[in-house]
Amino acid sequence: MSFIKNKSLASQGLEKIKWVQEHMPVLKELQRTLGESKPFRGLRMAVCIHLEAKTAYMALVLQEAGAEVFITGSNPLSTQDDVAAALVHEGIETFAWYNASPEEYAEHLYLTAAKKPHLIIDDGGDLVSLLHKSFPNHLSNIIGGAEETTTGLIRLRAMEKNNILAFPMIAVNDARCKHLFDNRYGTGQSVWDGIMRSTNLIVAGKNVVVAGYGWCGKGVAMRAKGLGAKVTVCEVDPVKALEAYMDGFQVMPLLEAASTGDIFITVTGCSKVITEEHFAVMKDRAILANAGHFDIEIDKESLASLAEGPRRVRHNVDAYTFKDGRRLYLLGEGRLVNLAAADGHPAEIMDMSFSLQILALKYLRENHGRLEKKVLPLPLELDLEVARLKLKGMDISIDSLTTEQKNYLESWEFDIG
Ligand SMILES: NC(=O)c1ccc[n+]([C@@H]2O[C@H](COP(=O)([O-])OP(=O)(O)OC[C@H]3O[C@@H](n4cnc5c(N)ncnc54)[C@H](O)[C@@H]3O)[C@@H](O)[C@H]2O)c1
Repeated sequence: MSFIKNKSLASQGLEKIKWVQEHMPVLKELQRTLGESKPFRGLRMAVCIHLEAKTAYMALVLQEAGAEVFITGSNPLSTQDDVAAALVHEGIETFAWYNASPEEYAEHLYLTAAKKPHLIIDDGGDLVSLLHKSFPNHLSNIIGGAEETTTGLIRLRAMEKNNILAFPMIAVNDARCKHLFDNRYGTGQSVWDGIMRSTNLIVAGKNVVVAGYGWCGKGVAMRAKGLGAKVTVCEVDPVKALEAYMDGFQVMPLLEAASTGDIFITVTGCSKVITEEHFAVMKDRAILANAGHFDIEIDKESLASLAEGPRRVRHNVDAYTFKDGRRLYLLGEGRLVNLAAADGHPAEIMDMSFSLQILALKYLRENHGRLEKKVLPLPLELDLEVARLKLKGMDISIDSLTTEQKNYLESWEFDIG
């Protein structure tokens, strides 16, 4: 039995799914081929990812490929109720609604994990962690899973290090067709979509401070520059800091940037990046947004203890007023702003990420019993297959190496005379 908010929204959700489908040619191709071969026939699949239209389309492809799919969202603010209703309409058991309380979110996750899955798709590691903690009897049943994001991989690698990971997990985030596009261009665009939708303010001319210059941070900073902002990057990794500097950004410690920034975006995967000492020197009306996986990067608790608030001033905008009269505005409750306040990454980007997910599960299925219970890379050939299909879907052809070129690139003896 599904747990959703409003079944009557199904037709609206189905329209949303149809829209993204038209922009996801690789998934469409997998739907065609796997819909015929049905590699997941007889398997139960638990999925925990931000529940919006692209995710729903992936779930429908998995269902068509033979799986019995159970799905929940990976963040209380990223579920779209109409999309959840559409999935139920299509026969997928769904446990999620927008704005779930922490208890409801935990219950939705629990109900999904309780379905005794054979295969898993996780985004952030909550599902895998819960299965290990609360369902030890289910673990031997699990063939393996695929993890979508950087933060999830950090958690999985900690489990592997402690020798408790009970099944193989494929690091989809590390595939080139994932982080080079999803983390960089996807986050780069959708974070600004979320900030602009929620504030309706101009970006040009503003001082934008980006904390974290990893794959996501690069995209966020690049797009801020394109929108006309003056961008400062804050980092803890000296190489990334240098890279940001040579990419043309100002680089300085966050405390220094705190007093000049108009918009702050954290995207580090780390906790307590913006804290009390930064709030203390920020300008009146500075905007705070997070794009990292969990709502731990902006210290909301200390914000609430230091200032009056939150007072909802617009959809997804909360004001915190300090004793000296300064107001700070927190977007999307400090949860990842591109999903809390917008629709997440563009469909063309998630086309690749979700196709990698499906191919990872197919690989796990085909190699059942042969893989180590570790965090494993996605085989390069599958990464390349997604890139080839994507290029084909975009009607772009490329060159290939001649035999002579291949031989040259594989040889070590050169004729220097
Ligand atoms: N919003 C989205 O849609 C979305 C998409 C993909 C990933 N993510 C999440 O975004 C976060 C970052 O992902 P990524 O792929 O860019 O990771 P990454 O590892 O490539 O980059 C993170 C960067 O943050 C830096 N950093 C760490 N702690 C810091 C601190 N205290 N101050 C300043 N910099 C610090 C690191 O040095 C690193 O360069 C993760 O939580 C990931 O799960 C979000």
